[in-house]
Amino acid sequence: MSEHSTYTPGTGIEKWLDERLPIIRFSKEHLMDFPTPKNLNYWWTFGAILVMCLVVQIVTGVILAMHYTPNVAMAFDSVEHIRRDVNGGRIIQATHAVGASMFFAAVYIHIFRGMYFGSYKAPREILWILGVLIFVLMMATAFMGYVLPWGQMSGWAATVITNIFAAIPVIGNPLLELLRGGFSVGNPTLNRFFSLHYLLPFVIAAVIVLHIWALHVPGNNNPTGVDVKSSRDTLPFHPYYTMKDAFGMVLFMIPFAWFIFFAPDILGHPDNYIQFNSQVTPTHIVPEWYFLPFYAILRAIDFNILFIDSKLGGVIFFGGSIVILFFLPWLDRSKVRSGNFRPMFKWFYWLFVINFVALTYLGAAPAEGIYVILAKICTAYYFIHFLVILPVLGRIEKPRPLPTSISESVLGKSHA
Ligand code: HEM
Repeated sequence: MSEHSTYTPGTGIEKWLDERLPIIRFSKEHLMDFPTPKNLNYWWTFGAILVMCLVVQIVTGVILAMHYTPNVAMAFDSVEHIRRDVNGGRIIQATHAVGASMFFAAVYIHIFRGMYFGSYKAPREILWILGVLIFVLMMATAFMGYVLPWGQMSGWAATVITNIFAAIPVIGNPLLELLRGGFSVGNPTLNRFFSLHYLLPFVIAAVIVLHIWALHVPGNNNPTGVDVKSSRDTLPFHPYYTMKDAFGMVLFMIPFAWFIFFAPDILGHPDNYIQFNSQVTPTHIVPEWYFLPFYAILRAIDFNILFIDSKLGGVIFFGGSIVILFFLPWLDRSKVRSGNFRPMFKWFYWLFVINFVALTYLGAAPAEGIYVILAKICTAYYFIHFLVILPVLGRIEKPRPLPTSISESVLGKSHA
């Protein structure tokens, strides 16, 4: 970018700064003038919405940490203290709790957008891999944050999820003790989860910088999936996409605010308003909604596979369901990026979405009767999509003709 920079320092101070730390030049090139395909739709505003979500979580989280006490004797009451006594505490706490759900809703939309439009394909593989890494970090952060209020679900989620690691051969038990800081979930667990819950969002912020860097090398994909061919295919990021992203953010804030003001607890579990008691197990231990698809996969493996017992099998499938996302750029062999031009892929894509929603439902259903069988079928389909359907489609599908350029797709053939 720098070799054809459009920036000329306007004042003496700007020139002085530009020769020492060209931060204004950098912002102008990467935030304002950055050439962006002119046909991006509203699904492309979710990247900016996600940045907003992270900022909201960090700002509200830092304030919560000023009043929260990470000690098993006081944690539960300190959250209640925040909600009742701290100025604005009810809203700050609700924003943080609802914010976690909104963050995941946005990230799922962002991921499924990328899957539909083939944004993970060359040359954007690293961008995608960094995205999956962010997703893993988000899950770890949300899980540890959920433990902090020290309610029944917090403590039992911590117990069940850390227990998963015990299934890993050789290192399982030492790892479990390291995670818990002892033989069972207790004060050391709460302390380390608080410490890491505070740290990880900043690690996420750093990976987001790499994510956006990896985006700015090849530039954005777009709904046609066709590469940018000339400057007629693009618009400067500012003011066109700053405005579009800002509008997307405002729309997103409507349901966000609705939850905060009218139903701040609806996404949580009532049992979490009972203080954690290691002697009383809740009737159903259910994770937050955004973990349910993966929880369903974990539970679906309730049988031994050859010499692998069911517990380890569950862990392998659970881990595999996320690890497989890293390999997506190499599993989908089709040369065409956008699902709009892939008649067969389109159907399988929506089937995958339905299957994912079904897994979400099954993750919350009791592990009995028909639900157990359905969870097994949906788990199998999840893997078949990546390991069989995508590679085969790449070979047999006949894509529809692509537009010759982005301009043609927007303005029609005569203007291209
Ligand atoms: C906190 C989480 C995240 C933030 C803040 C973030 C931010 C962004 C931003 C600002 C963009 C450019 C605008 C857009 O295309 O929407 C982008 C693009 C992209 N992101 Fe993310 N992202 C996050 C998570 C993820 C995850 C979890 C994945 C995938 C697993 C992912 C994959 C992608 C891809 C493939 C693109 C390129 C889209 C394109 O050019 O068509 N991102 N991201």
